[in-house]
Amino acid sequence: MSATYRAMLCRRLGPPDVLEPAELPRRALQPGEVRIAVHATGVNFPDLLQVAGDYQHRPPLPFVPGFEAAGEITELAGDVRNWQAGDAVLLRGTGAYAEEMVAPAATLLPKPADWSWDEAAAFPVAAATAWVALLWRGRLLRGETLLVLGAGGGTGLAAVALGAQAGARVVAVASSAEKREAALAAGATVALDPAIAGWEQGLQAEVVFDPVGGEMFSTAWRALKPGGRWLVVGFAGGGIPRPPANRLLLKEAELIGVRAGEQARRDPLAARALKTGLRDWLVGSEGRRPLIGAIYRLDEAAAALRRLADRNAVGKLVLRPR
Ligand SMILES: NC(=O)c1ccc[n+]([C@@H]2O[C@H](COP(=O)([O-])OP(=O)(O)OC[C@H]3O[C@@H](n4cnc5c(N)ncnc54)[C@H](OP(=O)(O)O)[C@@H]3O)[C@@H](O)[C@H]2O)c1
Repeated sequence: MSATYRAMLCRRLGPPDVLEPAELPRRALQPGEVRIAVHATGVNFPDLLQVAGDYQHRPPLPFVPGFEAAGEITELAGDVRNWQAGDAVLLRGTGAYAEEMVAPAATLLPKPADWSWDEAAAFPVAAATAWVALLWRGRLLRGETLLVLGAGGGTGLAAVALGAQAGARVVAVASSAEKREAALAAGATVALDPAIAGWEQGLQAEVVFDPVGGEMFSTAWRALKPGGRWLVVGFAGGGIPRPPANRLLLKEAELIGVRAGEQARRDPLAARALKTGLRDWLVGSEGRRPLIGAIYRLDEAAAALRRLADRNAVGKLVLRPR
């Protein structure tokens, strides 16, 4: 085994093109850790934000971006009992833009045998976000109407799939015909084009999943039912909405922040419930796998990130390091 591994390194903050291929030294495992040969890495909007220096977590430079991957365990610390070398796994972690990763064994989930490496790698971040948002923070109930904005993107499609599975009537909003088709295939009842004026009229959603923010907020707010829950997931549209508090009063609405990663770090009960929820999702997964929009080589990571920034990704983008 060579003493180094290939990764995409961020030496300075900026646009995706700042990423450079690098050979990094392999480090020894700490107790509780495993080493994973990465077969596929999921690309997420937060990768773009982190490389630009706009993300809430700012690792010291240089760093390897990437929050999720799937691969095979190649080495285990002496105290790790419930996994073996050769096990196929997927995980949320850091440093996933690489041909190998070191991670705590406690973060691993088993890869379903009938899922591809690409599907497994594209699963955990969006699924965890949808799960924490809809079921934990949003208390989505069977029979409610769920409005999903940015429904053809990574978190949006996961929210559509989970919302439909939870028995909600899912209304998807997405800007292209291809994204709307993907949302319908993932379980949405209706898919609307936000470019058509008045798309929000007549909608009375109990829950809104909003990874977009920006200008969409004011229009979509009219679709929230009085007493409804608005899930603030992200700001892919660029702008952070600043709704006046009287809007909450008038609708007796709840504006609810969602931080899928933090929630599980802070609250052990939420962490356990999330892990169980994701395991159940992986097992009973028919029709609820991530849609893979495109596959790139690891050294094409910048192109994948540019596509995300240009709003041209349908579903998830994946990097293959080998
Ligand atoms: N809170 C959390 O725990 C958490 C976890 C993961 C991600 N996030 C955040 O959620 C947001 C979405 O992440 P994602 O992985 O779903 O991203 P994505 O796959 O790129 O999807 C985002 C969607 O936002 C819409 N959009 C509107 N304006 C856009 C613009 N100027 N640039 C790019 N997209 C635009 C697009 O849909 P249309 O073309 O249909 O408008 C796009 O499909 C990001 O802000 C991310 O940081 C939050």
